[in-house]
Amino acid sequence: MSPVKKVEKKSQTKKKTIKKPVDGKKKEGVGVSDIRVIKAKVYLLLRGMKDILPKDEYFWKNMYHTAENICEAYGYGFMETPVMEDAGLFIRSIGRGTDVVDKEMYVFEDKDGSKVGLRPEFTAGITRAFISHGMSSLPQPVKVWSYGQLFRHDRPQAGRYRQFHQFGCENFGVHDPSVDAEIINVAHNFLLDLGIKNNIYINSIGSPEDRQNYIIELVGYLRTKRSYLCTNCRKRISQNPLRVLDCKEEQCQEIISEAPQIIDWLSEDSRNYFMKVLEYLDELEIPYILKSTLVRGLDYYTETVFEIYTEESVGGSQDALGGGGRYDLLVEELGGQPTPACGFGIGLERLLLVWRKKIEEGEIEKKEDVSKIFFAQLGEQARMKSLHIIEELRRGGIIVHHNLGKPSLKAQLELANKLGVTHSIILGQKEVQDKTIIIRDMESGIQEIVDQKKLKTEIEKKIKKM
Ligand code: HAM
Repeated sequence: MSPVKKVEKKSQTKKKTIKKPVDGKKKEGVGVSDIRVIKAKVYLLLRGMKDILPKDEYFWKNMYHTAENICEAYGYGFMETPVMEDAGLFIRSIGRGTDVVDKEMYVFEDKDGSKVGLRPEFTAGITRAFISHGMSSLPQPVKVWSYGQLFRHDRPQAGRYRQFHQFGCENFGVHDPSVDAEIINVAHNFLLDLGIKNNIYINSIGSPEDRQNYIIELVGYLRTKRSYLCTNCRKRISQNPLRVLDCKEEQCQEIISEAPQIIDWLSEDSRNYFMKVLEYLDELEIPYILKSTLVRGLDYYTETVFEIYTEESVGGSQDALGGGGRYDLLVEELGGQPTPACGFGIGLERLLLVWRKKIEEGEIEKKEDVSKIFFAQLGEQARMKSLHIIEELRRGGIIVHHNLGKPSLKAQLELANKLGVTHSIILGQKEVQDKTIIIRDMESGIQEIVDQKKLKTEIEKKIKKM
C-alpha cells in the first residue's frame, strides 16, 4: 500500500467518528464536519531572553529615572542609536579576538545581502552617530547618555542574558583626568542613589605604544609558562594575550599573579595622567582599588579602564555591575576627527539582582531634585575641589548647574545668567585655602562668604525663601 492511500484511509476513519448533535440540529455557524481538536503549539521564551513584567515595574522605572536625574544634573543629553548596525562597525570598534566579537555577536545577512549585527554595546553605535551627525563641531565636551537593550550570545546565568539592558554615559572631546573622574563619579553615584555601595576597580593600560611594549613582555613571560596554562589561555598567547589576565581558571591564577604588570610599562605622560585621575577620585572620596590585571574585554580602550563592583563583591569580572574607560582613538579609527572620549556602561539586570535584595532589606532612599543654583570655580585647586562640593550638594538634594570646563569666571556667570538661576556659588583659590565659599545673589549682585561646611544649610535657606 502506498503512503498516500494510507493517509486517505486514516482520514476516512476519522470522519466516521463525528457524531451529530443529539437534538439533530446543526450548531449555529459551525458545520458538524468543521469540528476539529486544535492543538496549539506553545511558544517558549528563547534561551537567554527575559520578559519584564509589571511586578518589576518599580525597579525598571526607578532605574530609568535615577539615570535620567543624574544625567540631567551632570549635563548629559539623552541619545539613542539603532539596535541594528553594519556588523563591521562592531567588529572594527570592539576588535577581532575579543569574546564579544568572536563568540557573542548576533550577526546575520539582511534581505539585501548586507551583514548586520545586533548591538552588543552602545559605544560603537554612539561613536558612529557622533561622526555621522558632525557632533565634533558642537561645543565640547559632548556628553550623552543611553539606555536600552543590547544583545550578546552569552552563556545565560543569574543576571546574564542574551538580551540585556545597560545604562551608559559617553563624554567626547576632552582629554583631561577630570573627565575620567566625572565619568566614574556619575557611575558610582548612580548606584549610590539606588542604595548600592560600590567600589571602583581601576587600572591604566596606557597608550597603544605602551600596550604594545607590554604585550611583548607579557607574551615572553606567558610562553615560559605555557604548559601550566589552561587550553584557552594557550591559544590566547598568540591571539589576544591580554585576555589571559582575566582568565578565571584556577590553574592560571598563580601565573597571572606573577605576570609583569602593565602599570610598569606606562610612559611618563600616561603615568602622570593616571595619577591625576586617582587624585580626583581621592578628592571625591570614591573608594577605588588598583587592579593591575584589569584590561577590559573590548579593544578600543586607552589609558584609564575601570570596573564597578558592589562593596561586598571580591571583584571577579563575571559579576561586575559595570565598566568603562577612555577610548581616545575610536572616533578617528571610525573615520572622524581625532576626538578623545571616555564612558561607562552599567548592566541593569545585574544591578537589579543586587538592588532587589537591598530593597528587600529595606535600604532604599528616594530623593527629589531641585535646581536654581549655579556652581562656578576659578583656578586649578578650586576646580579640583568642585566636583566634591557639587556631589555633596547633590546628595543633599541640591542640584547645581556647572561647567567645570570653562576656566573664566565671567563666562561661567554669563552661563548662570542664561540659565536663569537665582544664586551662584563661587569657589576661588582663596576660598579653597580659607575653607569658605561665596554665595552670590544673581539679581542684586550681593555676595556673602560662608563656611564651606554651612553651604548646604545656607543654600537650603535661600531656596526656601523663593
Ligand atoms: P562591558 O564591560 O562589556 O562594557 O559591559 C558593561 C556591563 O554590562 C557589564 O559589567 C555587565 O554588568 C553588563 N553585561 C555585559 N554582558 C551582559 C549580559 N550578557 N547580560 C547582562 N549584563 C551584561 C561595555 O559594554 C562598554 N561599552 C562600556 C563603555 C562605555 N566603555 C566606554 N563607554
